[in-house]
Amino acid sequence: MSQTWWRGAAIYQVYLRSFADGNGDGIGDLAGLRSRLTYLKDLGVDAIWLNPWYPSPMADGGYDVADYRDIEPVFGTLEEAEAFIAEAHELDIKVIIDVVPNHSSTESAWFKEALADRRARDRFWFRDEPDNDWRSIFGGPAWTQVADGQWYLHLFAPEQPDFNWDNPDVHREFEDVLRFWFDRGVDGFRIDSAALLFKSADGYEDLDGVHDVYRRWREVADEYGGRVLIGEVWLPDQERFARYLRPDELHTAFNFDFLSCPWEPAALRRVIDLTLATHTPIGAPPTWVLSNHDVTRPVTRYGRADTAFEHGGRLHGAPSDLELGYRRARAAALLAMALPGSVYVYQGEELGLPEVEDLPDEVRQDPMYARSGGTNPGRDGCRVPLPWSGDGPPFGFGPVPRTDAEAGAAAPWLPQPESWRKLTAEAQAGDLGSMLNLYRSGLALRRDLLGDGTLTWLPSAADVLAFTRDSGLACVTNLGRTPAPLPPGRVVLSSGPLDEGELPPDTTAWVLPPGSEA
Ligand code: NOJ
Ligand code: CA
Repeated sequence: MSQTWWRGAAIYQVYLRSFADGNGDGIGDLAGLRSRLTYLKDLGVDAIWLNPWYPSPMADGGYDVADYRDIEPVFGTLEEAEAFIAEAHELDIKVIIDVVPNHSSTESAWFKEALADRRARDRFWFRDEPDNDWRSIFGGPAWTQVADGQWYLHLFAPEQPDFNWDNPDVHREFEDVLRFWFDRGVDGFRIDSAALLFKSADGYEDLDGVHDVYRRWREVADEYGGRVLIGEVWLPDQERFARYLRPDELHTAFNFDFLSCPWEPAALRRVIDLTLATHTPIGAPPTWVLSNHDVTRPVTRYGRADTAFEHGGRLHGAPSDLELGYRRARAAALLAMALPGSVYVYQGEELGLPEVEDLPDEVRQDPMYARSGGTNPGRDGCRVPLPWSGDGPPFGFGPVPRTDAEAGAAAPWLPQPESWRKLTAEAQAGDLGSMLNLYRSGLALRRDLLGDGTLTWLPSAADVLAFTRDSGLACVTNLGRTPAPLPPGRVVLSSGPLDEGELPPDTTAWVLPPGSEA
């Protein structure tokens, strides 16, 4: 693969805890992931992005990192991680890992040192009294008091103390962490909360110092070659967002406008145009993201009256027509795969999993739930362990039992709905009309005909999105209420059946021009 493989890549997000459990303790791990690598190869992805796999007390699903240079024992060992990287590379799959530079864990060596000795506190934000009245992004105050009376800042949970990026130790530490993993073959980093590192009296979002950090990180990545830095940058202001993607900073950043966009033609067209207008002048490829481990699953979201996503108002429990949502999620998948740039697939999206909204409160683990006093259900509903096979839970999430002891394996860490029997990877593999096969076909065609490049809008009705790509392939999505005409040519893939040659509502088709060979 080329040095710029990331420009048009299809990247699969693995939430390790919920992907596959190799040792039967009910929690996904590296052994489970390694046993399912051929599934990802067959799906047709170019890269895997893993959520944090580091030692962690799991106060925030691993985003509370206790040691940036090792693997959480529940997930496996450093040797297993190295074997996984090598096996993925054998299959021509790149490996991207999360790095969490904004905050650490109260169980990290530095924080424990800071607690034991006041002179070692400058790597974090300790104060005699809170400097401000900031609230934690998960709810509740952003300051917590320690036994000797001082307070420390945490933008997220109290178990996630924020680093002080005015301290040079922090800069050195993270450059070294990048090298540690690049040396072990990792192809890139997804940078958590990338815009929040610096703090001042004015706030913490997008302060200038952050760009010097990423310029330095880019130098480190460039020393290795072919590596990618991906920012988690939630900024409504496109001009500020684009600054992270200048040629000497990050390579790409997540497109949260597209992810949050309602299933409405004008809104989608606006977001696509805005995205292209932001990225094209700086030469950075856009990214197209429909879901991740923090947001409501698209099948559920697109079946609601309000199809937008907002963190604050997750619309949990709002009525959803799941059949409609499923149809739209299929159409959205082909739209996202056809747009120029890279595309992300969050595990389970390719199975059409809905959000699990009826988890019992006592099994919820997301700190968002507890810290909102139970008013925000949090993100557990999109993190339920994957259904692989069989007729009932645990749906092959654990190892195939070879002994009586293994047959007594622990239940998955979050309960799976019985109704998922129709959605297992096994049930879908042999069904040509399944979501899984739509993703497989889409990703296979995408490899040759789509990815990096440019888009040209085709004339269409206002509630239809129609464009062609450099290969000549046309992508048409009908967001209206009546069937829409398709351009001449051969339909190579569609998200649902056509209606007498026309494109029904909530459907996407890919059309190759007449005479084209592909
Ligand atoms: C963004 C991550 O995606 C989310 O899961 C996490 O809770 C916060 N950053 C804090 O690390
Ligand atoms: Ca396990």
